Amino acid sequence: MNLVFLGPPGVGKGTQAATVAKELGLLHLATGDLLRGAIRAGTRTGLEAKGYMDAGRLVPDDVVNRLVRERLEQGDAARGVLFDGYPRTTPQAESLDATLKGMGRRIDGAYDLQAPDAVLVDRISGRRTCGKCQAAYHVKFAPSSRGEECGKCGGALVQRSDDKPETVKARLEVYRKETAGVGEHYRKSGTYALIDANRPIDAITADVLGRARRLQ
Ligand code: AP5
Repeated sequence: MNLVFLGPPGVGKGTQAATVAKELGLLHLATGDLLRGAIRAGTRTGLEAKGYMDAGRLVPDDVVNRLVRERLEQGDAARGVLFDGYPRTTPQAESLDATLKGMGRRIDGAYDLQAPDAVLVDRISGRRTCGKCQAAYHVKFAPSSRGEECGKCGGALVQRSDDKPETVKARLEVYRKETAGVGEHYRKSGTYALIDANRPIDAITADVLGRARRLQ
């Protein structure tokens, strides 16, 4: 099974994807995480992506599509994939369809997580990420059991560089202009479902898991 999580910055895609992928035995493939990994590793792709990400803009389609294709060639992708934050443009959706088709696979469910802008800003401003293992927390809604340290590995919790208010505003504008229309691609293929993400974390997980399990 292959699933896609769509939705604006901060809506909770990564939070849900981590749990849902684990429950369903899927590979969690988040393009934001792949790009941040490339930046940390100092690769050419990372250097190219950094300027776009710091400005809250989308990294060019060809760069992201290549990263995804390369990741899908690794063995652990064969069990099925949950795509988080990808595709973000119609050309990315078309590239993903073509890549999966070449592997005899397809997207089975596309879940579009949505919440009001005020909720997104609240979630992003309180987000803290572990600098070591990248686990995500929220100072109010999902605090670490170890305060300012990661509850999983003890690493220091930091705020993501693109979570500054001015960059968040740019990311929301880019989402509306370039990504919001991607849902239409999946409506046409009959795989689309709108998910109310303005609910507690567990309620959203149960909703998405229920829908995904009915596809199995
Ligand atoms: P990316 O890393 O994908 O960021 P994003 O899509 O902007 O999404 P976020 O990670 O900000 O939020 P999320 O929805 O995962 O929410 P989370 O679960 O963390 O992309 C970053 C950048 O990389 C992009 O701007 C772009 O430059 C580039 N990029 C990435 N993919 C690309 C692509 N395909 N093409 C081109 N460029 C690309 O939750 C947020 C907070 O809320 C957390 O603190 C969490 O604890 C809390 N929370 C979550 N759910 C709830 C809830 N139900 N109730 C209360 N709190 C909650």
